[in-house]
Amino acid sequence: MFPLVAENLVVEFQGKHVLGPVDLRLDKGDIAVILGPNGSGKTSLLKALHGILKLKLGMVRWSCLETESVGKQMFVFQTPIMLRRSVFENLTYPLRLRKVSKAEANQRATEWLDRIALSASMQVPATRISGGEKQKLALARALITEPEMLFLDEPCAALDGKTTNEIESMLQSCVENGTTIMMSTHDIGQAKRLAKNIYFINKGKLECIQSAKTFFVKPSSINASKFIAGDIIE
Ligand SMILES: Nc1ncnc2c1ncn2[C@@H]1O[C@H](COP(=O)(O)OP(=O)(O)O)[C@@H](O)[C@H]1O
Ligand SMILES: [Mg+2]
Repeated sequence: MFPLVAENLVVEFQGKHVLGPVDLRLDKGDIAVILGPNGSGKTSLLKALHGILKLKLGMVRWSCLETESVGKQMFVFQTPIMLRRSVFENLTYPLRLRKVSKAEANQRATEWLDRIALSASMQVPATRISGGEKQKLALARALITEPEMLFLDEPCAALDGKTTNEIESMLQSCVENGTTIMMSTHDIGQAKRLAKNIYFINKGKLECIQSAKTFFVKPSSINASKFIAGDIIE
C-alpha cells in the first residue's frame, strides 16, 4: 500500500531548472526524510508532491482519487502561518471546514491544547505566541484533522532542543497512529533520530533513496558521503 507515487517530476522557476526529473514511491507508514544542502530543492520537492507548485513535467499519483487526496494531506510550512484568530480557534478552524460539529471540534481542540501545553493561552491571538509555540500549534492544527499524509518543511529549523524534542515525539506518535510523513531537514541528527528512509537531494536530483540504516553507513553517492561528513558540496 502506498500513499503516493511521483513520476518524472520537473519544476522550473522562470525557466531555471530547480528540480527533477524525480521518480519516487512513498510507502504507507514511512517517515521519509529529505536531506540535502541549502538550495538543493527540498522545499520545492515537498510542495510539488503536495500539489502547490506548478509542475513543468510529470505527475503525482495517489492511492485514492486525486479529489479525495486533497482532504487527506496536510502541509506544515517552515515558518508557521497563524490564522488571525485565537490559539483555540486555530485548532477548531480546520475541523469546522471539514464539517465536524462544533461540540466535537471544541473537544478535540481542548485535547490538543493540553497535548501541546497551550491550554493557558487558548484565548490569546495566535500571532502573539512564541516561535516554538507557533510551530507546535501549526503541527497540532495539521494533526487534529488526522491526515493520512503529512508534509513538513524543516519543522525544527529555528527551534531550541526542548521544543525540537516535543515536535519529534509528536511526529513519532502520529506515525504510530497511521499517518505517513515526508519531511525535509538539513539536520543530520534529526534525520538519524526520525527517518525510516532517506531521500538525499542535491542540485534538484535525488541522488540516494535508501533506508536510514544503510544510508548513514553506506550512502550510495559521493555527495551524500561528503554531506554526512559535514564537508561542503560544490
Ligand atoms: N519562488 C522562487 N523563484 C525562483 N527561484 C526559486 C524560488 N523558490 C526556490 N527557488 C530556487 O530553487 C532552488 C531550490 O530551492 P528550494 O526548493 O527552496 O531548496 P531547499 O529547500 O533545499 O533550500 C534554489 O536554487 C532556489 O533559489
Ligand atoms: Mg527549504
